[in-house]
Amino acid sequence: ARIEKGGHRHFMAKEIAEQPSVIGDTIRHYAGTREIVLPEPGLDFSQYDRVLLVACGTANYACFVAKYWFERIAGLPAEVDIASEFRYREPPIPARTLAIFVSQSGETADTLAALRYCEGRVDRIASVVNVAESSIARGSDIVLPIFAGAEIGVASTKAFTCQLTVLHMLALKAGSDRGVLSGTEMETRLGLLSSLPGLVNHAVGESAEVERIAREVAEVEDALFLGRGAMYPLALEGALKLKEISYIHAEGYASGELKHGPIALIDQTVPVVVLAPSDELFDKSVSNMQEVMARGGRILLITDPAGARKAGDGCWRVLTLPEIAADLAPILYAIPVQLLAYHAAVAKGTDVDQPRNLAKSVTVE
Ligand code: G6P
Repeated sequence: ARIEKGGHRHFMAKEIAEQPSVIGDTIRHYAGTREIVLPEPGLDFSQYDRVLLVACGTANYACFVAKYWFERIAGLPAEVDIASEFRYREPPIPARTLAIFVSQSGETADTLAALRYCEGRVDRIASVVNVAESSIARGSDIVLPIFAGAEIGVASTKAFTCQLTVLHMLALKAGSDRGVLSGTEMETRLGLLSSLPGLVNHAVGESAEVERIAREVAEVEDALFLGRGAMYPLALEGALKLKEISYIHAEGYASGELKHGPIALIDQTVPVVVLAPSDELFDKSVSNMQEVMARGGRILLITDPAGARKAGDGCWRVLTLPEIAADLAPILYAIPVQLLAYHAAVAKGTDVDQPRNLAKSVTVE
């Protein structure tokens, strides 16, 4: 069937707007009230000592967020690799490793080659894919579809947040299988998860506000994105989105690395997007912001109401998202990051759905 833009100007806008609904679908496919239920043949995380997550592009950043979740929620060591590096490095793989390949298309050549390398070397191969009848799905012992629906825009949006949603639920299952997460904690976390689509809907509703800021961002040549903890991969994703579709040069950094290089670039011409919910690392992010402001840097702070109260003064712009459980923040904060790139690209008049030199699915090396 032909997929239409449904009243939106671009597929990317449609796909951003669809996120509350498709994230809800994803949750419904895996989450019960007390447990996470995986499709046959299932996964028992008590059998693995380590997860290896491999992907390319945006899917790789989803893996990077998942590393924080597996470690923090399940106490399970997790390693992330870029498929193009992993496949040629021929890394040794310890016993009791579960490999997880994440791919929207399920056809990315490097990711598929990395999967082939793992055949016979890991205990189990799982894939998190949007296209369930894909080469990567066929090569896996267990397929975990993300249920995002067809994604047409070259820059991945809803596939990213649905990948995150599935990976989050895998981390919950891992915590439960390994006896790290109690039954009560699981129920609490599943309850929090069920409120995610509503919060995402709120963030999508801030589009007009992001657009106003994006029109100013569209004027710059360079931008920095900063985040700590699981917001660090989000900073990488924010920079990737902006450069992909608006062609503005952007770099994502772990906030703590600011002083080891990127601070040299700071002046009023380089906006710094700080992704910082008011979590236990917030004060650290505030010090980083002060370092930027002391050098005349302009900060766009993306935070929650408490964060805006504590640190909004002196910022160039503040975008406020609803308060959310710390572990779910990366999914919610993906929305303003996508909207910022989208509206900056529209303001610049670039071809949002078909950015130059990029392909939706890279099936050749
Ligand atoms: C291309 C797309 C990206 C995508 C990456 C991985 O570069 O433009 O949006 O993240 O491939 O694709 P996959 O289908 O494996 O997720």
